[in-house]
Amino acid sequence: MESERAPHFGFAAGDVVLVTGAGSGIGRAVALRAAELGLAVAAWDRDAHAVAATAAEIASRGGTAVAVPADVSVAEQVDAGFARSRELGVVRHLVNNAGPSSAVDLDFDEAMRIAVGSMRRMVDTWLSAGAPEGASLVNIASVAGTLVGTASDWYCASKAAIAGYTRHLAAYRSDEVRSNAVAPGMTDTPRLAGFAATEVGRRVLERIPMHRMATPDDIAWTMLFLLSPLAAYVNGVVLPVDGGWTVTQ
Ligand SMILES: NC(=O)c1ccc[n+]([C@@H]2O[C@H](COP(=O)([O-])OP(=O)(O)OC[C@H]3O[C@@H](n4cnc5c(N)ncnc54)[C@H](O)[C@@H]3O)[C@@H](O)[C@H]2O)c1
Repeated sequence: MESERAPHFGFAAGDVVLVTGAGSGIGRAVALRAAELGLAVAAWDRDAHAVAATAAEIASRGGTAVAVPADVSVAEQVDAGFARSRELGVVRHLVNNAGPSSAVDLDFDEAMRIAVGSMRRMVDTWLSAGAPEGASLVNIASVAGTLVGTASDWYCASKAAIAGYTRHLAAYRSDEVRSNAVAPGMTDTPRLAGFAATEVGRRVLERIPMHRMATPDDIAWTMLFLLSPLAAYVNGVVLPVDGGWTVTQ
């Protein structure tokens, strides 16, 4: 399924990338675009039906994917998910994308466990088997973690924590894995369906220099670049992908 226009970003064909939250939105886009680059995809999601659809779409275009129904906040499911993913081969790349919506009402401590702790569990479980050569990961933060305060206290706090955790990995575990994060702005995924048409949504769009939301692909390609050998010397950045929103604040 290698698109003629898509660059390969230096990935080795058949290398395995594990993408969490691959049943929808940004994670789904990462999974589809990664397969276009020749990667085999371990597509994780707690929504078994959605992630089966992502894997089926990849397969229908000639790519390789396995659907892994797993909730990243449940230890046993993470262990079982890694066992299933490794059937594809050595997992060399990890995209920690799954995370709860800011619209959900969560207890603060529990939210930190689910949103940040699960990313840490994914990394520790992955690397406990020994870091593969050329390992790289990308965590998903948000402009809500770098700049913008959100109505839910746990959301912006957890996204800031993900940025900090990424810096920890880059500073202290770079002999095992190269680690970066992206901080998307408003991205047009099912989670934000209809938001752009609301009063608040319109106000935000007016302040974004590019006057549009990101597409899931805008975020996916940036994540794949950071993950790829082309970004070999990029370690510990939290890269805004926000149409310039950040610089206008
Ligand atoms: N959409 C935006 O504007 C935006 C902006 C900044 C950051 N983000 C971040 O991007 C990530 C993806 O968001 P999206 O907009 O694509 O959302 P989405 O709702 O379209 O997709 C999220 C997917 O993750 C899955 N998921 C959620 N929790 C999970 C868990 N514990 N285990 C396994 N799977 C789980 C869901 O089932 C869903 O399929 C989130 O971490 C979100 O915070 C989104």
